[in-house]
Amino acid sequence: MKKKRASRRITLKAPWEIEKLLAANQIVAGVLQMLRGNLLPGVTTYDLDRQAEEYIRNCSAEPAFKGYRGYPATVCISINDEIVHGIPSPARRIDVGDLVSMDVGVIYDGYVGDAAISVVAGEHSGSGLADELIECARDALFKGIEKVKKGKRLGDVSAAIQARVESSGFGVVKQFVGHGIGQNLHEPPEVPNYGTKGRGPKLKKGMVIAIEPMVTAGSPDVRVLSDGWTAVTADGSLSAHYEHSVAVTDGKPLILSLLR
Ligand code: MF3
Ligand code: CO
Repeated sequence: MKKKRASRRITLKAPWEIEKLLAANQIVAGVLQMLRGNLLPGVTTYDLDRQAEEYIRNCSAEPAFKGYRGYPATVCISINDEIVHGIPSPARRIDVGDLVSMDVGVIYDGYVGDAAISVVAGEHSGSGLADELIECARDALFKGIEKVKKGKRLGDVSAAIQARVESSGFGVVKQFVGHGIGQNLHEPPEVPNYGTKGRGPKLKKGMVIAIEPMVTAGSPDVRVLSDGWTAVTADGSLSAHYEHSVAVTDGKPLILSLLR
C-alpha cells in the first residue's frame, strides 16, 4: 500500500478470527499457485486476471482489490520495471524472461487475505539478474517473518528486511509499505521495509500483518504512471515483490498465506 500518515489502533485478532484469515489466505495461495503454472509466454495479463477471478468466485470468495479505491482488476500484475499495482490488460502479453510480480487479495467470510509472488516467465537459465532479485525479495520477506514474534518490535521486522536487501547491493522501495490486515485490506500498523531494530510498536499475540518487500536492481525511487496505479522504478531498473500475511502467536510466526 501507499505510505501515508494517519495511525489508528492495532487490533488483536481472536483465534477464531485467525482461522478466518487463514481460510481467506489459503484461497490467495491457491490462486497464486494457479497463476504461477499458467504464466506462459504469450498469455495476456488480462487472461490471468480472468482466471484468478473465476478461481476466487468458485471458492465463494470475492476479489479484495477490485473496486478498492477504484482499482479495476482482481490481480496486480507488474512486469520488469513495474514494481507494484500493474493493471492487467488484453494488450499486455507475457514474454519469455519477463520478471512478473503477481499480487492477489481475497475477501472470504468477512476477512481478507493478501499475498504476492514474483516469477520469471518461460524456460530460462534461472541464474540471471531477475532470478537474483526475486530470490532477494523472497529471502528478505522470510528474514522479516523470522522476527514476527511476541515481544519483538515492528522495527525488528523492518530492519531485517532492509539489511537483507541492501547487503546484496539492491534497493528497497520506501514509498510503499506492508500493513495490518483483518476485516480490512489495509489496517494499522504500516509495515515499512526499512527501519531500526528495537523501534516501533511491540508485537503482540493476535496481530496480523502483511509484509511485502519490493526490491529494485537500481535506484529504489518510484514513479507512478498516468493510469494512476502502476508504480515503476524511476530509473527503469528491474523490480521484484514478495508478500505474505503473517500472524503473531505464542510461538513461531504463523504464515497464513503459505499453501497447506
Ligand atoms: N498488496 C498490495 C497492497 O497492499 C495490493 C493492493 S492493490 C489495491 O498495497 F488495488 F488494492 F490497492
Ligand atoms: Co498488501
